[in-house]
Amino acid sequence: MRVILLGPPGAGKGTQAQFISEKFAIPQISTGDMLRAAVKAGSPLGLQVKEVMASGGLVSDETIIGLVKERITEDDCKNGFLFDGFPRTIPQAEALINAGVIIDNVVEIAVEDEDIVTRMSGRRTHEGSGRTYHIVYNPPKNEGVDDLTGEKLIQREDDKEETVRNRLNVYHEQTKPLVSFYGSLEGEHAPKYSRIEGVGSVSEITRRVFEALDS
Ligand code: AP5
Ligand code: ZN
Repeated sequence: MRVILLGPPGAGKGTQAQFISEKFAIPQISTGDMLRAAVKAGSPLGLQVKEVMASGGLVSDETIIGLVKERITEDDCKNGFLFDGFPRTIPQAEALINAGVIIDNVVEIAVEDEDIVTRMSGRRTHEGSGRTYHIVYNPPKNEGVDDLTGEKLIQREDDKEETVRNRLNVYHEQTKPLVSFYGSLEGEHAPKYSRIEGVGSVSEITRRVFEALDS
């Protein structure tokens, strides 16, 4: 199964991606996690994208498309994959179509801007895996540390309120058009499109996502 998770920053894409990835035994491909790993490693890609990520802007389509095309040829993608944070622009979505990649499901997780700002300020992230928590809504078992590794959690650099607002603007301008793009694709290879409300407990949202994928 090939799935795209669509939604604004902080909608819970990464949170839900873990559960989908486990249930359907497909890898989570998060372009954000891949880029953050490159920044942390100080690789040429990391140096190239560091600044634009910190400001909440988008990395160039060319860079992202190259990264994803390479990733999906890896062995673990044979039975499908889950895109989290990709595609994010119309050209990125068109590049997938042009590469002959058929998507089965697009799931949009919808959350209003005001709720997003609250979520982001409480987010804590495990750098190594990209696992996310929220200090109130989804706390780790032990304060400040990752459930699985016991390693320290950090706050993402782009989760400052001002940067979050910029990311939301970028979302509305560049990514939101994908909602009607995917919603209106026709033909036998058009993905099934589902929009779910992203407000509720994490497990309730998981239930809605699974329902969208199962039906
Ligand atoms: P990326 O990492 O993709 O960031 P994003 O899309 O802004 O999404 P987030 O990771 O912030 O949110 P999420 O939806 O995963 O939410 P989460 O589950 O963590 O991209 C980062 C940057 O990389 C971009 O700004 C750009 O520069 C670059 N980039 C990446 N991909 C790109 C691309 N394709 N093209 C160009 N540039 C690209 O949840 C958020 C918080 O809410 C957490 O604290 C969580 O615990 C909490 N939460 C989750 N569910 C709930 C719930 N139901 N109720 C209450 N709280 C909840
Ligand atoms: Zn994420």
